[in-house]
Amino acid sequence: MSLRRLAPPDIQPASFAFNAENAEWARATIAKYPPGRQASAVISLLWKGQEQEGWVSHPMVESIAKMLSMPFIRVLEVATFYTMFNLEPVGTYLVQVCTTTPCWLRGSDAVVAACKKHIHPHEKTVSADGKFSWMEVECLGACVNAPMLQIGSDFYEDIDGPITERMIADLRAGKSIKPGPQNSRIASEPEGGALSLNDPALYDGSMIGKYKVQAPPPPAEPKKPGA
Ligand code: FES
Repeated sequence: MSLRRLAPPDIQPASFAFNAENAEWARATIAKYPPGRQASAVISLLWKGQEQEGWVSHPMVESIAKMLSMPFIRVLEVATFYTMFNLEPVGTYLVQVCTTTPCWLRGSDAVVAACKKHIHPHEKTVSADGKFSWMEVECLGACVNAPMLQIGSDFYEDIDGPITERMIADLRAGKSIKPGPQNSRIASEPEGGALSLNDPALYDGSMIGKYKVQAPPPPAEPKKPGA
């Protein structure tokens, strides 16, 4: 775990405010909690702020602390504790590359190399065109399709270096890319299709009643001493 702190003052924006739609959403969210418990909305508000701006800034923390009648430090503690909050500006596309053991064993080094080559040599740094930034993250829970990465809310799985390069190039050119496995797999089935439970009779009703639950065998008689 690296040290997490707000971005330096020279890149902080002058102010933060929720746009009209998000401000309305924030009011409704805060109102869900009983009087005196508004602080419970802190993660929701930080998340909405990040969705709006891409990252959590110093003015955003100040503004949310004021909205929830919380000390600044309490909101800062939350923002710096949870790694899903970005504490520095991100590109239009934030590429989160899983490098935990299963993804690493399956080739995440090549995925990271592609990001370094086509986005920026350093993680958490916005590319020259402002479109991308990338970062290493811990397991995203898609290990059966390792290696994988996340862009926005979507997972891109079964990737390698060249596939990562192609995805970045397509996004840069304004093309959409297909989430999910990038090979022929469907979800986490074997490539080429399922290898088990693929007898059609299992699904047409013809097997109903054909299998009976077997009674367990009687317990063995204990051996008599000296027998
Ligand atoms: S190790 Fe990469 S998704 Fe789990």
